[in-house]
Amino acid sequence: MTDLLTLDKVSKSFESLLAVNEVSLSVQPGQIAGLIGPNGSGKSTLLNLISGVLPLDGGRITFDGHDITRRSADEIFQWGLVRSFQDPSLFFRMTVLDNALLPVKRQAGESPAHAPLHRRWTPQESSLAAAAGKTLDELQLGQHYKVRASDLSGGQMKLLELGRSLMGEPKLLLLDEPTAGVAPKLAYTIFEEIERLRQSLGLTFVIIEHRLEILFDFVDTVFVMHAGSLLAHGTPAEISANARVREIYFGD
Ligand SMILES: Nc1ncnc2c1ncn2[C@@H]1O[C@H](COP(=O)(O)OP(=O)(O)OP(=O)(O)O)[C@@H](O)[C@H]1O
Ligand SMILES: [Mg+2]
Repeated sequence: MTDLLTLDKVSKSFESLLAVNEVSLSVQPGQIAGLIGPNGSGKSTLLNLISGVLPLDGGRITFDGHDITRRSADEIFQWGLVRSFQDPSLFFRMTVLDNALLPVKRQAGESPAHAPLHRRWTPQESSLAAAAGKTLDELQLGQHYKVRASDLSGGQMKLLELGRSLMGEPKLLLLDEPTAGVAPKLAYTIFEEIERLRQSLGLTFVIIEHRLEILFDFVDTVFVMHAGSLLAHGTPAEISANARVREIYFGD
């Protein structure tokens, strides 16, 4: 099967710190891939490089047949590669619905040529609101669409971030700690949603997650980073049995 995402010797330094060191990996369509490693091992930086938030120092990235190595974050997003951020990135004073509508592609009302012509974009806006409403319903947020994002529980905020990513019509979602700060039971629910979305929409995921006991129940493949390098990759069972990984995580 052709890779959806391929990294070939991708590197990034911050002054003298080699944060990502010649990382090569590939992700197949429909996979849920885990990206794990200790704090500071380069996981978020790697997602920043893939999504075009940061420029690479070296290497090459291909997504869905496009060479995206030197593409802008906006172009990469338009091609269907959407990421979420480790820190909460909601607009807390806006409603749940408005947060969900933020990333929508090519909103006609935003184009200076169309903005004065309300009649041209109002139908698009209402159909987008309907699509956002459906997405929010699916994530059990349908009853909360009018409330401010600040009034949601921690778990609901994480679900809203996931819903907002979906509104970008992704093929590949890069999720940076989608369950951070959420109680274990709800974290499990979020992963069940991710699994459901993979099945119903055929989406592909790369997920950074520190709670391996939850992650390993859902992923097909795991990439382990350590000090900027890719230390290991394999199935959850292979990674659990890997001596180097056990040494890093559990001091075995
Ligand atoms: N913009 C930046 N400028 C300078 N150094 C940075 C920058 N971003 C990250 N770093 C450094 O690069 C290294 C990798 O950071 P990164 O955030 O990618 O780690 P991580 O694996 O996501 O860690 P965590 O699990 O704590 O989120 C760290 O030493 C970090 O301090
Ligand atoms: Mg991080």
